[in-house]
Amino acid sequence: MNFISVDREKCNQDGICVSECPARIIVMDPKAGYPVPTSDFKDFCLKCGHCVSVCPTDALRLDWLGPEECAPIKKERVVTPEQAEQFLSGRRSIRTFKEKKVPRDLLEKLLQVACSAPSAKNQQPWHWIVIQEPAEVRRLAGMVIDAMRIFIQAKPKLSETMGYPRVVAAWDQEYDRVCQGAPHLIVAHADKNWVFGPEDTALALSLLDLYATSLGLGACWAGYFYKTVNTYPPLFEAMGLPADHLAFGAMMIGYPKFRYRRIPVRNRPRVTWK
Ligand SMILES: Cc1cc2nc3c(=O)[nH]c(=O)nc-3n(C[C@H](O)[C@H](O)[C@H](O)COP(=O)(O)O)c2cc1C
Repeated sequence: MNFISVDREKCNQDGICVSECPARIIVMDPKAGYPVPTSDFKDFCLKCGHCVSVCPTDALRLDWLGPEECAPIKKERVVTPEQAEQFLSGRRSIRTFKEKKVPRDLLEKLLQVACSAPSAKNQQPWHWIVIQEPAEVRRLAGMVIDAMRIFIQAKPKLSETMGYPRVVAAWDQEYDRVCQGAPHLIVAHADKNWVFGPEDTALALSLLDLYATSLGLGACWAGYFYKTVNTYPPLFEAMGLPADHLAFGAMMIGYPKFRYRRIPVRNRPRVTWK
């Protein structure tokens, strides 16, 4: 197998693919002057597709990826710094949702974009569980409350620090602080032995959160939920998680009931300039 093939009619021998390969497993053939894989290419290729997507002449293809499969980056869609600043600092955690379900194709789109997050060694370790029925979200939130009640009994002081008594008290007054009445919940899980699991899944969920905003959806991290999933076996089982996985994050999803008009102030960067 050749791993990469180069269309010599198109290749301008600029060596950009060589420079951009993060694993340094593409070199210029000293005789022919065209890019070729190193002998250990197969062992170290991250399957990141950088070589294909950075080539200005679409000359390079991998045995599993051609330029025609990689969407072009359109100049007219590049966001300006002003747009990016408002978009990134204007996103909010949404906790009041309309009683309206999000169509499945929109949820699929959310997940598709979330999966373009960076991940260590391009492992893309995330798996997803989407709770589609609002009644099921509520049932699962109720299981979190069950776990909290047990925890409060066992460790009253610590549970106070974690804010559990207030969450349980709210639930008893028909206010769900676990999933905030969101119609859907998206849980990200990954192999518990993958050392970058927490970071990789958090980044994917962060993209999901941002993209949800652009789709007119609202999202909010469900911290109480995913932390409990991993420590309360009945909930872990109810979620159907594989035994060797952990839930590394969960996001409430729905249509926001209210629109934010301004961007609240956040702490200024605490920086040490050296
Ligand atoms: C890891 C993590 C867990 C969170 N868990 C919850 C949660 O369980 N419930 C909730 O209402 N908000 C939760 N949040 C949302 C934060 O409270 C929110 O990001 C913060 O108040 C700032 O508001 P903003 O996101 O609108 O800027 C969580 C956020 C993160 C990053």
